[in-house]
Amino acid sequence: MGLYKKKKRHKNFMSSNVEKMKTLHKNLEFTATEQYKLIRTNLDFTLPENEKCPVIGVTSSMRGEGKSTTSINLSYVFAEKGSKVLLIDGDLRLPSVAKKLEIPSSPGLADLLRGKGAQISEFKSHLLENWFVLPSGDIPPNPSELLGSSRMENILNKLREIFDYIIIDLPPVNIVSDAVSISSLISGMIVVIREEYTEKKELDRCIRQLKLSNVKVLGCVINGAKSGTGTYSKYKNYYQTDPRGVRK
Ligand SMILES: Nc1ncnc2c1ncn2[C@@H]1O[C@H](COP(=O)(O)OP(=O)(O)O)[C@@H](O)[C@H]1O
Ligand SMILES: [Mg+2]
Repeated sequence: MGLYKKKKRHKNFMSSNVEKMKTLHKNLEFTATEQYKLIRTNLDFTLPENEKCPVIGVTSSMRGEGKSTTSINLSYVFAEKGSKVLLIDGDLRLPSVAKKLEIPSSPGLADLLRGKGAQISEFKSHLLENWFVLPSGDIPPNPSELLGSSRMENILNKLREIFDYIIIDLPPVNIVSDAVSISSLISGMIVVIREEYTEKKELDRCIRQLKLSNVKVLGCVINGAKSGTGTYSKYKNYYQTDPRGVRK
């Protein structure tokens, strides 16, 4: 992990390091790491036991709540446990996975959706043997139709044969319809809430929208929660009845 060593002399280096510290397991604080592992365990209890390769979407109500950060870290902890994991950047409007991980953004999902073939080995990360990252590819003009298309379904079906878990970083529900359009193709959705940032009315709208679309909400992740002093009790209705998930 020498790539992520702190370099104090150069200001830009520092800021890009700080960005990376919020992703990638080994650079996270111990408590954050443990929380991602806890989410992994809880998801394993929540997901149907006999499903060959669960496909987990990660969304939220608005931008900036931590969907991409959560997707990266969660997929990493799943891989770290030994599972073969694919992280897909499904935010074809504002992709950020490739940037956060400093990998090329193309070829990627959009290229597969356009019918271009690719070897899955191309997407193997250099950090872990069994962690694969499919970036967005070149941004297409019609992400919503593409994500819900039969081509996407075929791609996911093929990938399900290869992987143990697939995690898809998606755009926010209240801004565009992409996350909802893919809903019938995935096993369930994680909703990211950012403490002191997510507006309760936006969260209500997001959950309502997901329920209307029959998406199985697997649970909420409270990102940036300050243990003990936090104000996340205002979101309590979304997790109180089941520590693993939102109110059904
Ligand atoms: N828990 C956190 N603490 C501090 N900064 C965070 C945290 N989670 C995310 N960020 C930062 O907030 C910004 C938005 O996060 P990101 O995961 O890209 O959100 P989204 O994908 O929901 O738009 C990024 O700069 C990210 O590094
Ligand atoms: Mg994002």
